[in-house]
Amino acid sequence: MAKTQEAWSSRLGVILAVAGSAVGLGNFLRFPGLAAQYGGGAFMIAYFISLLLIGIPICWVEWALGRHGGSAGYHSTPGIFNYLIKHPWAKYLGVIGFVAPVCIYMYYVYIEAWCLGYALNAMTGRLSVEGMDYGAFFGRFTGASSDGVAIHFGLGDVGLFVLIVYALNFYFIYRGISKGIEFVCKWGMPLLIFIALIVLVRVLTLGTPDPTKPDQNVLAGLGYLWNPGDIATGLRNPQLWLAAAGQIFFSLSVGFGVIITYASYLRRKDDVVLSSLTASAANEFCEVGLGGLITVPAAFVFLGAAGIVGQGTFGLGFNVLPQVFAHMPGGQIFATIFFLLLFLAAITSSLSMLQPGIAFLEEGLRINRKQSVALLGLVTAIGTLFIWYFSKDLKALDTIDFWVGTVTLFIQATILVIIFGWGLGIEKGWAIAHEGAEMRIPGAYKFIIKFVTPSYLLTIFALFLLQNVFGWNYSFSDPQFNPTGYVRDLLGGSDQPPSYVARLSVGWILVMAIFTSILVHIAGKNWTRHNPNKDPS
Ligand code: ALA
Repeated sequence: MAKTQEAWSSRLGVILAVAGSAVGLGNFLRFPGLAAQYGGGAFMIAYFISLLLIGIPICWVEWALGRHGGSAGYHSTPGIFNYLIKHPWAKYLGVIGFVAPVCIYMYYVYIEAWCLGYALNAMTGRLSVEGMDYGAFFGRFTGASSDGVAIHFGLGDVGLFVLIVYALNFYFIYRGISKGIEFVCKWGMPLLIFIALIVLVRVLTLGTPDPTKPDQNVLAGLGYLWNPGDIATGLRNPQLWLAAAGQIFFSLSVGFGVIITYASYLRRKDDVVLSSLTASAANEFCEVGLGGLITVPAAFVFLGAAGIVGQGTFGLGFNVLPQVFAHMPGGQIFATIFFLLLFLAAITSSLSMLQPGIAFLEEGLRINRKQSVALLGLVTAIGTLFIWYFSKDLKALDTIDFWVGTVTLFIQATILVIIFGWGLGIEKGWAIAHEGAEMRIPGAYKFIIKFVTPSYLLTIFALFLLQNVFGWNYSFSDPQFNPTGYVRDLLGGSDQPPSYVARLSVGWILVMAIFTSILVHIAGKNWTRHNPNKDPS
């Protein structure tokens, strides 16, 4: 079995692939939902500070470490850590680099299936056949109304679309880096931006659709999201800082293990500094410039603030927006292309979540692409089936999103930045990042990466744990610690029993972590025996 030397075919290709990974449901649904919830002005200040202090530096770190590991023949986080740090335990630090993208893929692809399903059902007018109760359609289609209800395969059910998106993802991932991922992103990203611009023009030209409600106009809709409001009070709320930092992680695909793997397919002298900035800038354009101007203003114009408040990410996208489109001239077409936009944004991201897994299985177990695709297909299918079946209140999805899609990303990002700034040493990391660089990173970032980013991350993470795990209510004068939310789901509280679905979901994550640790152990033995640059015997 000869080892395939995979590589990006062009610089634009890798930038579009990283941007494709970054631009996703987070940009068009999660970001506007959070900005509206926390009041545009204050949220954006915390958001941009997080972008400058954690987002952009960790992107540079991932790109630089990835390309460095790739030049030694490693493409997965465990492999790259094993190469960078000469300690037998180092490779286990990379376990999250497999578990996070693979577990996130399991639910992300399920939402991707909703997007495709909603596009087709909008096109055929089936969303409105259900009457005006879009909530009922959402409940049945996604399974949020009860466990097992979404496992059906008609045109108005999600089943068919789950099968289609699985087939598409695994087909393209099987085709490899340049013929699969790069191909999809080269076509998908420009198309996505083109569609988003069409939807944006439609939203910005809505004017005042209901003359009896003159306050519900486009400018007021934009103001609802972007007026600064009471910035000083907003910035005193630690939860706002957590939400802003979490959004930066999720949106840039930082800490997923994705960028490090993508960068490992660069050549030694390829620039990483400018490419990383370009991909991040593309993501910010799509997030702030497109996502931030479409979803919330559109909902505001037709439904007012009452239609938006408390809807959450999925409520806004799959419940509120179909109602909005139904009010709009040409609504059926715009609904169809809007959900197609979400689907395109999602597939370029979900593909990126598979590649770290494929890379690890290939280089760690020394199996070929067909075998690694089959194995990863089996593992992810079990996870998606679990999430698809235990769908009531989207409990399994939400639980895995919290513990993996948020908690482990903080951990992984902290590990990365500490390895770069302290493990390798900032001077060596700096030299690695600047090999072949087309611009220099401002010198202040040496200090930021070494001290500020880790401290900022650890502070945010501590606050996050205090709030979400220990139930701290942030009142300094009257601190209360009541395990809330996700922890109470697991342990039960005085007023509620534990949720067995939440327990099963966390159990599944632990099974994945143990399974991955065993694989990393096997991989470590293989890496000791063989240099990955040489053909496996
Ligand atoms: N970065 C991807 C998104 O924003 C995961 O959806």
